[in-house]
Amino acid sequence: MGNKIRLGIIYGGKTSEHEVSLLTALSIMKAVDKNKYEVQPIYVQMDGTWLKGGPIADQVLESVNVLRLDGGVSSGSNDHDQEKQGQITLAGNQSLMGKPANVMSIHQEVDVIFPVIHGPNGEDGTVQGLLELADIPYVGTGVMASAVGMDKLMMKNVFAQAGLDQVQYMGFLRSQIEREVDSVMNQIEQKLGYPCFVKPANMGSSVGITKAKDRDDLRGALELACKFDRRIIVEEFIKAREVEIGVLGNEELRTSVIGEVIAAKEFYDYEAKYKGGGTDLKIPADLPQQVADRIAEMAKTAFQALDGSGLSRVDFFYDEENDRVVINEVNTMPGFTPFSMYPMLFAEAGIPYAELIDQLVQLGLERYEEKQRNIVAAEELE
Ligand SMILES: Nc1ncnc2c1ncn2[C@@H]1O[C@H](COP(=O)(O)OP(=O)(O)O)[C@@H](O)[C@H]1O
Ligand SMILES: [Mg+2]
Repeated sequence: MGNKIRLGIIYGGKTSEHEVSLLTALSIMKAVDKNKYEVQPIYVQMDGTWLKGGPIADQVLESVNVLRLDGGVSSGSNDHDQEKQGQITLAGNQSLMGKPANVMSIHQEVDVIFPVIHGPNGEDGTVQGLLELADIPYVGTGVMASAVGMDKLMMKNVFAQAGLDQVQYMGFLRSQIEREVDSVMNQIEQKLGYPCFVKPANMGSSVGITKAKDRDDLRGALELACKFDRRIIVEEFIKAREVEIGVLGNEELRTSVIGEVIAAKEFYDYEAKYKGGGTDLKIPADLPQQVADRIAEMAKTAFQALDGSGLSRVDFFYDEENDRVVINEVNTMPGFTPFSMYPMLFAEAGIPYAELIDQLVQLGLERYEEKQRNIVAAEELE
């Protein structure tokens, strides 16, 4: 036991990607070397309640249901043997953290945390901020890059500043759309035309996204997007292949091979992403070397422009006809099961899943150490 790294995994979350997150957590727990790590589950229920289970052992990791913590234990049981067998127990009130602020209390129980919640309230810097306040080292992207990476408008502004080629876009506030939808639509028609993509700035998983083909579509698309966020982005449509690349590192960056997403449907929507609606991943993507090199360079530039850390998957459009590579987005907490694009891209690049997790934990610890170098107040200079 003694020298194991106590690795907390925060999963679940109040998001449409809750179940995906459970799968990711299960995969990570199964994969990590139990001689090196003691894994501690921290579950954020759909209603926002936080639960913490005891250290988890391999043999119980058969289905995600174990990770719902309360479901993994027969009610009222205080049997200590159960714990020895590696069952997750909700041992007394310690384990019901309730409000996220109580995460501060686990500071003594873990050495490092891997937050694997996707989407808002997980991938957007909020959980990361909590862990900063709790002074717990964590895996992956920091507060600022998470927040910027989650907001498609802010992200595109940062990419523009970094000189990265991207599609034309416009940003609107929900209040403006509600006040003067016809004027908004006129502006969109003038600058972008049809088809165009309408997206809530702050979602992910293609939720609330519509490809609008005419003015009627556009009206409905704006209305839908406004249900999900108060900031809306509208983009010019680009006819192109979709290719993705992984970036790994803090300051010294490594890129993976490139993968291609071949969507059978109109676009890579929620169904296709999570219900396997006929989407093929091709790894590695069939690209001229010169294009692959450009993509790798742009991915690093994007990562650095956001000040990323640990991991990101950077998504591109490749317009073959015009030999144009256009950045679409950075995902700071990409899908992370062994069958998700990011881990598969690195497996192909020679870093298998368990080792990838190992490296990410190491990078998280290094990032924490680096931060300790900062002095907090000028007086400390004396
Ligand atoms: N401007 C665009 N032109 C063409 N297709 C697009 C455009 N924007 C998005 N798409 C399609 O919609 C999908 C989801 O959009 P994306 O911005 O990646 O949102 P998410 O964050 O939900 O993944 C993309 O993978 C792509 O298939
Ligand atoms: Mg995407």
